[in-house]
Amino acid sequence: MCLFGLQSFGNDGGTSPTIQVDSVCFSRDILPMLNSNCAMSNCHDAISHKEGLILTSYAGIVKGVKPGSSATSGIYKQIANNKMPEAPYTKLTAAQKTLVQTWIDQGAKNTTCEVTNCDSVNVTFSTVKSIIVNNCLGCHNGASAFAGIDFSTDQMIEDTKDLILCTAIHASYCKPMPFNGLSLTSCEKGIINRWATATSAGNIQLGEPVVQSYSIAPNIVKDAAVIQFQLEKRQMITMSLYGYDGRKIRTISGGEYSAGQHEVPFSAYDLSRGAYFVRIQAGNSIQSLMFTH
Ligand code: HEC
Repeated sequence: MCLFGLQSFGNDGGTSPTIQVDSVCFSRDILPMLNSNCAMSNCHDAISHKEGLILTSYAGIVKGVKPGSSATSGIYKQIANNKMPEAPYTKLTAAQKTLVQTWIDQGAKNTTCEVTNCDSVNVTFSTVKSIIVNNCLGCHNGASAFAGIDFSTDQMIEDTKDLILCTAIHASYCKPMPFNGLSLTSCEKGIINRWATATSAGNIQLGEPVVQSYSIAPNIVKDAAVIQFQLEKRQMITMSLYGYDGRKIRTISGGEYSAGQHEVPFSAYDLSRGAYFVRIQAGNSIQSLMFTH
């Protein structure tokens, strides 16, 4: 059995692959899945480590495993008979259980894999969804969703696109996900980036930039923030707020600004959670700046 049997792995074109095509890859298939489904706080993360198990690294996971024998491995027995994950968390799917079983029976090795045929250009929603299911869903599922972020339906994934992007690519203004110090592979980040920005109509950059040192502080805006920018010469500008979907929400400021540094206060009380852009327009030039709220 192999969920990913059609992909090929290896970083030298396939002549000596890091792992066999039909093998389970620990870093891609097992670690993120166990992290997402078992290493939430109060369970098997580094702080709670129930039963002494920390399921956020190879060293921690292999302590609950007898390499070569899934039948006598504690971790596999717990998930196979649905003892774990405990309610309210969702049990693993049959396919996920089989992955764990296969990985243990293949020797429970610390395999990593490079995807040589990473396609982050022709991205489909189903690829994005499989990344979210494997890396995020366990902690963000229905009633037990952390931070109220729920990925249990396609619509909810679509609606959280902007926040998925900034958390998954570890943008400096967002909380890094998938939590516990883990990171998506660069291929997965590329896929998420393509999917999320392909439809991000708010992020437009056109013409020669007219403002410098363009920033917003703080850049996770709670209530109020200050937009800063610099102008080399006197200039007519319009500053507007746009939603992630490219719809204009309102004009923030406009008029003639002198050369030098400027600060424009901005309030976000009325905005719902999400990503937004502040767009500065001067003649044919448009520069936008993203922030999350
Ligand atoms: C092991 C559990 C766990 C996994 C796996 C996980 N998250 Fe989270 N996530 C959390 C927790 C806990 C928080 C709340 C963090 C906080 O408030 O400090 C959170 C918060 C978030 C938020 C809200 C951030 C904000 O600024 O409020 C987003 C969006 C998010 N996660 C997306 C993801 C995505 C995308 C993935 C997969 C790539 C993922 N998470 C995987 C536990 C997890």
